[in-house]
Amino acid sequence: MIYIFCWFLQIHWPFRLKEGASRPPNRGDVLEFDMEGVWREMESLVKENLVRDTGVSNYTVKKLNKLIGFAQIMHSVCQVEMHPGWQNDKLLQACQQNDIHVTAYSPLGSSEGGRGLIHDQTVERVADKLNKSPATVLVKWALQRGTSVIPKSTHQNQIKQNIQVFDWEIPQADFQKRVLDGEELFVNKTEGPFRIMADLWDHDD
Ligand SMILES: NC(=O)c1ccc[n+]([C@@H]2O[C@H](COP(=O)([O-])OP(=O)(O)OC[C@H]3O[C@@H](n4cnc5c(N)ncnc54)[C@H](OP(=O)(O)O)[C@@H]3O)[C@@H](O)[C@H]2O)c1
Repeated sequence: MIYIFCWFLQIHWPFRLKEGASRPPNRGDVLEFDMEGVWREMESLVKENLVRDTGVSNYTVKKLNKLIGFAQIMHSVCQVEMHPGWQNDKLLQACQQNDIHVTAYSPLGSSEGGRGLIHDQTVERVADKLNKSPATVLVKWALQRGTSVIPKSTHQNQIKQNIQVFDWEIPQADFQKRVLDGEELFVNKTEGPFRIMADLWDHDD
């Protein structure tokens, strides 16, 4: 018998495909899956020391709670789409509360479906201000939320650029931008009572 040890085993999508389904699958090829049955099998691999850690991907809070309800061995990672255009806050919070690490995929907004965030005006504005590239701002945005992040590039120079994220921070004021910040209407630098934005909104950045 041959044993293969695997460090990490992850459920890629919470459904199964008909046998012989093409990739990408046709709609009719997608079927519900037995989440508990699959999880029990994954747990048995961990118990037999054939797998070190388990994870899920493309889960929602509802599916996460269902899994938590029956899991004997909790998964360590949840990999989901996460970027400023799809912040997935509730899932991030649920994972943090349950000690599950989150990996943000498509952090640059991907190239699929025209969602690329590299040319988003707000991202470009923050990048210009910090003298960084839009891609590194997006990678840093993910890291500052406590997730790991997996940007993809087929270009060596961009791969190198995308890891230049460890000796600087996105200031809190640029991290998220409200639609109505009230600066022009209510902030009066000389006479107050709100001399800076922090006075107006009771924060200190
Ligand atoms: N678990 C899942 O179901 C799932 C689903 C989707 C993706 N993922 C994983 O997530 C990772 C990344 O996702 P993704 O490829 O969808 O999206 P992404 O990393 O958000 O975006 C990739 C796109 O950004 C471009 N890019 C990368 N660095 C750049 C830079 N510095 N400047 C300008 N453009 C840049 C790439 O172009 P170039 O190649 O031309 O550089 C590519 O078009 C992959 O490893 C993927 O396997 C997982």
